[in-house]
Amino acid sequence: MVEKLCLQMSVKEQIDQSKLPEHIAIIMDGNGRWAKEKGEMRVFGHQNGVTAVREALEAAVEIGLPYLTLYAFSTENWSRPQSEVNALMELLVNSLNQELPTFHKHRIRVNSIGRTADLPEHCQGTLRQTIEETKHHTGCTLTLALSYGSREEILSATKRLAEQVQQGHLQIQEIDEKLFSAHLYTEGMPDPDILIRTSGEERISNYMLWQIAYAELFFLPILWPEFTREHLFQCIYDYQTRERRFGKTSEQL
Ligand code: IPE
Ligand code: IPE
Ligand code: MG
Repeated sequence: MVEKLCLQMSVKEQIDQSKLPEHIAIIMDGNGRWAKEKGEMRVFGHQNGVTAVREALEAAVEIGLPYLTLYAFSTENWSRPQSEVNALMELLVNSLNQELPTFHKHRIRVNSIGRTADLPEHCQGTLRQTIEETKHHTGCTLTLALSYGSREEILSATKRLAEQVQQGHLQIQEIDEKLFSAHLYTEGMPDPDILIRTSGEERISNYMLWQIAYAELFFLPILWPEFTREHLFQCIYDYQTRERRFGKTSEQL
């Protein structure tokens, strides 16, 4: 145990602070399976998933990560049993209320991406309030992807641009990657350098399809409630050993 702890501590120490990623995006998956393994209801898994969120956030703060984006609820997750959807919404409200002192303490700015207007009114209220109360914070930006679907995001950006063209305010030639990015929910945020998915599934599930074009992917074989700060440090360490070529040759870098 002591030996393991020393080893884990050294991962964080080995991270090169001058080569930190700017943005880490996480697909928090496996809550249901974790609960099932324990003979518990799925909701129990979601409740314990909150502890893992805290771990990820604390690690992000400790290391000085500018952006952490968590996939908390997808557009497709609305088709889960109503009781599970309700439980997830309650958990969101309670967690935001409970974590507010932490957001203030560490100067964390809370933000959201997705069709948040689809959330129940009281969730929207709590979310709005949290975002408002933390908007001047200059530490880590914690973005929650809620009722988020990348295809929906891309479609709505396309429609808004098409509208501007139709109204004569924009020329088709003016539409470039920068302008398109500025019409996504992630406007103003850097693209993720790292994408982590837990639970062993190796898929993207409609998460930031545009933004992860050059992200380094990490698929961890653990379930989300098992995620600790050490996992985040390990991913950052591994990321720093990878060569990001962006289409160039190794020699050109
Ligand atoms: C992730 O865990 C949480 C959400 C999608 C909201 P799951 O609930 O998807 O857990 P599994 O994948 O069924 O184990
Ligand atoms: C992705 O997990 C969405 C979130 C983590 C919020 P899912 O559990 O919904 O993904 P699939 O259905 O296994 O692809
Ligand atoms: Mg899942």
